Amino acid sequence: MLRIGSSIAVALAEAANAAGYAPSIHNTQPWHWRVLPDRLQLFADRSRQLAATDPDGKLLTLSCGGALQHARLALLAEGWAAQVRYLPDPADPDLLAELVELERVEATPEAMRMVQAMRTRHTDRRPVSDERIPAAVSAAMVGAAGDLARIHLLTGDQVIELAAAAHHAGEIEADDPMIRAELAYWTSKSAPAGTGLPQDVLPARQPETMVPARDFGTPGTLPIGPGHDDHARYALLYGDDDEPTAWLRAGAALTQVWLTAVHAGVSLVPLSGAVEVTTTRQTLRGIIAGLGYPYLVMRWGILDPAHAGPPHTPRMRTSQTVDLAAVTREG
Ligand SMILES: Cc1cc2nc3c(=O)[nH]c(=O)nc-3n(C[C@H](O)[C@H](O)[C@H](O)COP(=O)(O)O)c2cc1C
Repeated sequence: MLRIGSSIAVALAEAANAAGYAPSIHNTQPWHWRVLPDRLQLFADRSRQLAATDPDGKLLTLSCGGALQHARLALLAEGWAAQVRYLPDPADPDLLAELVELERVEATPEAMRMVQAMRTRHTDRRPVSDERIPAAVSAAMVGAAGDLARIHLLTGDQVIELAAAAHHAGEIEADDPMIRAELAYWTSKSAPAGTGLPQDVLPARQPETMVPARDFGTPGTLPIGPGHDDHARYALLYGDDDEPTAWLRAGAALTQVWLTAVHAGVSLVPLSGAVEVTTTRQTLRGIIAGLGYPYLVMRWGILDPAHAGPPHTPRMRTSQTVDLAAVTREG
């Protein structure tokens, strides 16, 4: 039987497992973890990068940043604080980050709550209800990003601008055969086992919302009611920088905001179409008056609790994403 050598290595391996719950663009899970005796390394797995939709790998990097924060929170909930070292090896740009210098701390209830929320968090693309998000909850979600990235809550006029941009991005992507093929692949059984979007998490028809949701090109089987997005809030995650570290930090911010939302009973749907297309990304930049770089649009809202949400999307087996070779021995 294979055994893991030390208690730190066990905690690191468990953190890498917990990171598997993280959201990722098209559920590509584009990460790979290496557990070392004293650190946890996060690599990009370019074999699951969306070459047409995300040629620069920015949304891959954001997805990996989200997974990194999952690992960090899982360690905290077990009483380990870790430092993050971004891009520690200039010779290996796929080594995105490592968690190092582990120190014993008291596990906080806050970290434990966040870890619980990891297991229930999921993307629910149905329209939102008429219930508004209380101002204190929106403020807590904005605050949850801390100094990782910034969040701008859109005004009514800006939502109209966003709607036009999202619509335009959808048209451009629908006209691109490579992007269409990529979507078809990740929503089909051809996607690698445990990845992609099965039919039962996708709405049976496009919801009638002001800001169009991503059209996955294939109807799902998730029943949706007549709702809309009149009472949704749209938020833009952005920051000062367009470099990989900033996209990793944006992913960590998304994790913080989303897990806070789960705890408060708020549904969050990422909308990345308008970020993927250069011209509409410029429109988003205009919304923040050119004061930063847009990373992701989010829809925040309250769903009707009377109706069951979609099932959880699948995940890859951890044996495929976590390399334990350096910390296991026969015994
Ligand atoms: C960077 C990023 C971009 C995403 N973009 C969209 C999007 O445009 N539309 C959408 O419906 N879901 C989007 N998602 C949600 C993913 O499809 C979802 O996280 C993934 O399928 C895993 O499902 P889960 O969140 O239910 O665990 C995005 C997620 C991430 C991390």
